[in-house]
Amino acid sequence: MTAPAPQTRLRAGRSSETAHLTARARAADAVIEPGRRLLSDTYAHLFVTVPPPATSEEALDRLQRLDRAHGGFLAEILLRQRRFEDLVALAVEAGTRQVLLLGAGYDTTALRFRGTEDVRFFEVDHPATQAEKARTLAEAGVRTDAVVSVPFDFTAGASLRDALSARGFDHAAPCVVGWLGVTFFLPVQACRSTFAELAAAVAPGSLLLFDYMDESVVDGTSRYEGALAMARQVAEQGEPYVHGMTPRSAAATARAAGFEPLEQLRVPDLVRRYGGDEPYCSDDDFMGLVTARREPSGRDH
Ligand SMILES: C[S@@+](CC[C@H](N)C(=O)[O-])C[C@H]1O[C@@H](n2cnc3c(N)ncnc32)[C@H](O)[C@@H]1O
Repeated sequence: MTAPAPQTRLRAGRSSETAHLTARARAADAVIEPGRRLLSDTYAHLFVTVPPPATSEEALDRLQRLDRAHGGFLAEILLRQRRFEDLVALAVEAGTRQVLLLGAGYDTTALRFRGTEDVRFFEVDHPATQAEKARTLAEAGVRTDAVVSVPFDFTAGASLRDALSARGFDHAAPCVVGWLGVTFFLPVQACRSTFAELAAAVAPGSLLLFDYMDESVVDGTSRYEGALAMARQVAEQGEPYVHGMTPRSAAATARAAGFEPLEQLRVPDLVRRYGGDEPYCSDDDFMGLVTARREPSGRDH
């Protein structure tokens, strides 16, 4: 007999607390003076329960305290988003008109996007988190015309392709997919089936950006104490990391589903690329980010 799945926050119908955590980091970063901030998420403050810092110095102080406790997380949270927004800009320039976010949380890419008006953002997330996001944006009077919400639970065994079809997603047109900060919360089977579902849903040529947590953080053997402390914290909050990968297994998992890895970045690579001359965050190396392209399958020829 298989053990019953543990009761997690989402399964209990409560919105994601880790999505709040990433929004808090982005909201504080947005207060830092322009030359030093790592992103510029001007909507993140809507999703925080603790007021964002008032000044650039306060924001730096708050974020650097977090960074000392959990080195590498800020870089990952803020800079994977930079990479994603670069990818979206490049794809849109090349003609892509659909952006798909899996586990979108309180992502505000759609709200800040200033490209052509005909780009649609499909935001897939657990219904509990999605309801919280919709309520917050409605209360703030923020228009979300370009956003199509797709309530979906990656662990429920439903068809992602069908859920997207029902909301008007064009399976024949290439898209760019961001799956950020999510794979490690999904049991391995749910993660693999989401890869397979995604491959069945998107057109060849579509680009995928996903991140993974090192196996060593999930199994408790990592040498990065701050990562292990974060693992304990999110588990206590009801969103445990349950599934890690390695650079090799991440590439193999993507390839097995029909996505060819194009680039692998680790936290230090992100900091080198996007952190500026004097990055305010550290670069503990326990997470990775993979850019991959959906290859034509036998059926597609
Ligand atoms: C750490 S947050 C990341 C949010 C956003 N992508 C970001 O980078 O800020 C994890 C997100 O995954 C979603 N998530 C986790 N498990 C899920 C599941 N089984 N089905 C759907 N969404 C899930 C949560 O609701 C949450 O929004």
